[in-house]
Amino acid sequence: MDYIDFKGVKLSKIGLGTMGMGGRFERDVSNDKQHLSAIEKHLQLGVNFIDTAEVYANGGSEELVGQAISGARSEYFIATKVSPEHLAYEDVIASCKASLARLKTDYIDLYQVHWPNPDIPLAETMRAMKELKAQGLIRHIGLSNFDLEGVHQCQALLGDEKVAFIQAEYNLFDRSAEEDLIPYCVENGCIFIAYSPLDQGSVVKSAELRSELRNYSDRYGQTDAQIALNFLVRSGHVIVIPKALSDQNIHTNCSALNFELSPEDVQRLESTLVNPVVYIDYGKVKPTKDMVNDLAIKTIEDAEQNLLHHSPSPIQLAEELKTKGKFKAIRVSKHESGDYQYLLEEGKLRFWATVIANKESGIVPVLIRS
Ligand SMILES: NC(=O)c1ccc[n+]([C@@H]2O[C@H](COP(=O)([O-])OP(=O)(O)OC[C@H]3O[C@@H](n4cnc5c(N)ncnc54)[C@H](OP(=O)(O)O)[C@@H]3O)[C@@H](O)[C@H]2O)c1
Repeated sequence: MDYIDFKGVKLSKIGLGTMGMGGRFERDVSNDKQHLSAIEKHLQLGVNFIDTAEVYANGGSEELVGQAISGARSEYFIATKVSPEHLAYEDVIASCKASLARLKTDYIDLYQVHWPNPDIPLAETMRAMKELKAQGLIRHIGLSNFDLEGVHQCQALLGDEKVAFIQAEYNLFDRSAEEDLIPYCVENGCIFIAYSPLDQGSVVKSAELRSELRNYSDRYGQTDAQIALNFLVRSGHVIVIPKALSDQNIHTNCSALNFELSPEDVQRLESTLVNPVVYIDYGKVKPTKDMVNDLAIKTIEDAEQNLLHHSPSPIQLAEELKTKGKFKAIRVSKHESGDYQYLLEEGKLRFWATVIANKESGIVPVLIRS
């Protein structure tokens, strides 16, 4: 295992993501034995960075992490997250205390805001984070799913305290973090935490990129996942947090840094493993159902009326996007059927906000999975 030295603390560059452990949305103890054993195997193989969240399995993931580290707390670095609906001052404090109880510890190494919530002033949330740090209940402050502008806003509000960790999706399918968040971490001495580093198990959901990757895995005698993880941590400021349950995947991931990609190959991968953003007519994208309520926004009118009661609403988000002038690509997959050529995968609310913001042209930026 390779480690990053962060202010004198060694952090494993291969961390462990625990979403889905202890249950999916609700607590489900039926697989606890298997999940606990998966966490323990990672720890035996040198992983000391564990990512969890109060929302995972409604606290169940934190409970399992607490069990896995009990008796050896100081050997591990525990990162957890406060949910967007708990970002008011008193709620942040209460969430943190509840996480501490589930983790059975008296401090959290890294406390992250899971997602921004435009309905709650950032100043309030940051004041609570500073208070938690002053009380010694958390050691570092982190942000998850914030764009660079949001990071700057939080940093300004924190004053002398630092945004020490930034978490966002980063994998071979979506390398957009390389444009701003990772350079920010390099310049400011922070750590970037790459979530879904294996693109949720696909390693890379694009046939072209997969065949490109295969050249390297064959030549190095490693798996695609190992080449991908090795490549993603190359800046020295990145920790990847793949989630793995099977023995084979755990061993593969934990030995992904046991070889070195040559500088020439890193350079080649930098330029060939690129998934360009494509601009398409939104009418070619087939809407899909929301995971939580099993309903879909099907038309721009549905979106404008906020049919699924999103907060922020698609109109609010569209205003925000217009002000920023920056539109993050939406994920779609190829889907030739009737009038549609693509299927809407992730970023469903953002898709409709982008459509509303670009109503005249009807053009949206997408990343296409083939
Ligand atoms: N901050 C956020 O909003 C946010 C969002 C998403 C995720 N996360 C964090 O990031 C962690 C990881 O993300 P993720 O679970 O979405 O995606 P991921 O780690 O990219 O992929 C997990 C999937 O990949 C499979 N897998 C693991 N190792 C593999 C390998 N070597 N080869 C092939 N398949 C492999 C796993 O299968 P098995 O489990 O069957 O082994 C699992 O199905 C989460 O657990 C969570 O901690 C954070």
